[in-house]
Amino acid sequence: MTQQYILIETPVDGVGLIRLNRPEALNALNSDVINQISTAMEAFDADDTIGCIILTGSDRAFAAGADIKEMEQRSVVGMLTGDKLTDWTRIARISKPVIAAVSGWALGGGCELAMMCDMIVASESAMFGQPEINLGIMPGAGGTQRLTHAVGKAIAMEVMLGDRRLTAAEALHYGLVNRVYPVERYLDEAIKLAAKIATMPGVATRMIKAAVNKAYDLSLQQGLDYEKRNFYLLFGTEDKDEGMKAFIEKRPPQWKNR
Ligand code: HXC
Repeated sequence: MTQQYILIETPVDGVGLIRLNRPEALNALNSDVINQISTAMEAFDADDTIGCIILTGSDRAFAAGADIKEMEQRSVVGMLTGDKLTDWTRIARISKPVIAAVSGWALGGGCELAMMCDMIVASESAMFGQPEINLGIMPGAGGTQRLTHAVGKAIAMEVMLGDRRLTAAEALHYGLVNRVYPVERYLDEAIKLAAKIATMPGVATRMIKAAVNKAYDLSLQQGLDYEKRNFYLLFGTEDKDEGMKAFIEKRPPQWKNR
């Protein structure tokens, strides 16, 4: 039987939490771990009671990277024919908002996993890096693209070519993370943020997430066209009728998420 490497919780209404639980390897991401994260996220994505998802690790390590002991065995043919990155891309395709709550090491694939999420809440001990160069390889799950978008070319080059590690304070300064809290509080604060997002109308949150992500893919005009299309579509939702009515009637809205 495959070992279970994640814990699944619903700490408060509307919030689904996935906790990496492979402490003996600092949450190193082998194929089973990534498959289990993807499967759990897809289950929360399909669950009408969940409005926001949190991915977290331990205080010591969010994840110390892809599993080096597993990768050591791999050849180029094995990588190509096994298409080992497919399960990673499932994570980036989740339609609901996803928050990474990061403490300790977020290295290599661990940093890439955090960056696949929509927001990062970090502890003061969080340390971000892409040290693949030390192994004779390079980031393969989005690091060269997402880190560059997040922190800019100069810092991204230094992180990836020179194995520079970014502290939580630096990551906040460069725009990689949303917020930084003491280690005793970062997860509670991530849950609070997720709980707030989970109370928002669910169709609109998905439309916003999708449109913001298009800002990385499309030209400005194409992105504006996409935004306009989503904006118009929301006028067909019950939540739009309810939100505007509630404002006019000076009462809180009752969202239906449809
Ligand atoms: C497999 C790992 C691991 C990893 C740590 N461990 N990182 N096992 N893959 N990525 C294991 C160690 O072998 C060790 O197991 C145990 O976790 C504790 O680690 P230590 O090194 O003893 O802890 P410490 O001295 O505190 O150092 C922490 C560390 C270091 C700085 C995070 O472990 C480290 O440098 N790890 C590798 C980081 C890295 O290079 N990540 C990028 C991987 S490449 P034992 O059995 O010895 O006790 C990558 C490519 C992604 O991510 C591409 C997309 C798929």
